[in-house]
Amino acid sequence: MGSNIARNFASKGHTVAVFNRTFARTEGFMDNYGAEGDFLAAETMDEFVASLEKPRRALIMVQAGAATDATIAELARRMDGGDIIIDGGNSLFTDTIRREKEIRAQGLHYVGAGISGGEEGALLGPSIMPGGPAESYKSLGPLLESVSAHVDGVPCCRHIGTDGAGHFVKMVHNGIEYADMQVIGEAYYLLRHVAGMEPAEIADVFAEWNKGPLESYLVEITAEVLRQVDAKTGKPLVDVIVDAAGQKGTGRWTVKAALDLGIPVTGIGEAVFARALSSALAQRKAAHGQLPSGQLLNDEVERAEFIEDVRRALYASKLVAYAQGFDEIKAGAKEYGWSIKPGDLATIWRGGCIIRAKFLNRIADAYANDPDLPSLLLDPFFKLELKDLVDPWRRVVVAATQRGLPIPVFASSLSYYDGLRAKRLPADLIQGQRDFFGAHTYQRVDLPGAFHTLWSGDRSEVES
Ligand code: 6PG
Repeated sequence: MGSNIARNFASKGHTVAVFNRTFARTEGFMDNYGAEGDFLAAETMDEFVASLEKPRRALIMVQAGAATDATIAELARRMDGGDIIIDGGNSLFTDTIRREKEIRAQGLHYVGAGISGGEEGALLGPSIMPGGPAESYKSLGPLLESVSAHVDGVPCCRHIGTDGAGHFVKMVHNGIEYADMQVIGEAYYLLRHVAGMEPAEIADVFAEWNKGPLESYLVEITAEVLRQVDAKTGKPLVDVIVDAAGQKGTGRWTVKAALDLGIPVTGIGEAVFARALSSALAQRKAAHGQLPSGQLLNDEVERAEFIEDVRRALYASKLVAYAQGFDEIKAGAKEYGWSIKPGDLATIWRGGCIIRAKFLNRIADAYANDPDLPSLLLDPFFKLELKDLVDPWRRVVVAATQRGLPIPVFASSLSYYDGLRAKRLPADLIQGQRDFFGAHTYQRVDLPGAFHTLWSGDRSEVES
């Protein structure tokens, strides 16, 4: 990714100094791409730093964690006041908050920038989410904007907020990415196992869906992956890939941060757990064929109707994942003192990034119309959409459950949705239980204050 972003900068007419810990890699880079633009191949860190024009702007793309800390320290001791270190990796936002503080104390600027788009995005235009001091954006912003993707002439790069804001937002982007990928996976699974379709046929369905409101990069590449045939066996590639999903951690971080903030990101959480369950291969093997399934339906469905129901269930579950992700961003902004505009994010996620999707335009509109929307689901446009999605969504969840097929994000998103719209939840009973065993008190619907029932006494109520 680092070499692609360097090539991207060079293609925009910037002179780019490149440095790798191992010079052979830099030489390899120069052999392959040196002629593409104006590159300076630095052999040492000293040479690299000395070659930068002031204020120096050094973008590092190294593994999150200790490697990032080591590289920052090496750079910082060679830099002067006002120089900028940009971490373009997927760093944990709390590390970025700490590093920004340390680097600021040395008179330098530290910018944690989320960069999304994978290898291709880095080369052709990613979505960039830079945090750090607003002042640094003055000299850095035009540079980053020049290499970012553009949609309708608008760069997919904007200053997000101070210290860890950029990496926080990129983390939630990845969490949404996890949920989005899982709901697409669930839709595929149902078309395969309920509608009895082959991967190539399902590829056609996704390609068709990509012409409507679900148009997105992930839906587009899903069609490509499903259409791929394995050269070795002649089988669909998807059938020879081990069904154990990997994860590098950003989805997990999103859920951990949401737990701390008290925000129910159920779709993202289920997506992370679904990857964990898929990877528990030994446990799955031990359970397969051993646990009773109960009476399962296996009757045929009307294919065209079922495909349309699944499309709508996918759309609804995806909406929930975005709504929850934006809730987390709003809560994070409040907790860490960032003024993040959700509409800005929807705007810079329209291009370049992995979750780029047509309906981000609608999300941008929703927050433009009402920046204080209590939930994205309450936006008038999405409310209207949901009217047409809810019945199919319920039918799909029922159909999957009756056939014993796991659809964790479809189902939990529907439960979240019903929880959100419910007048009352069983939390009243939970409060009663908490008061019973721990005298934790409860509030009443009809009186102010906190109350406790004397459960082990005469069961009268006292105000506490
Ligand atoms: C992006 C991607 C990128 C990377 C993830 C994948 O926005 O460009 O999200 O950051 O592909 O790290 O994460 P997992 O390996 O955890 O799926």
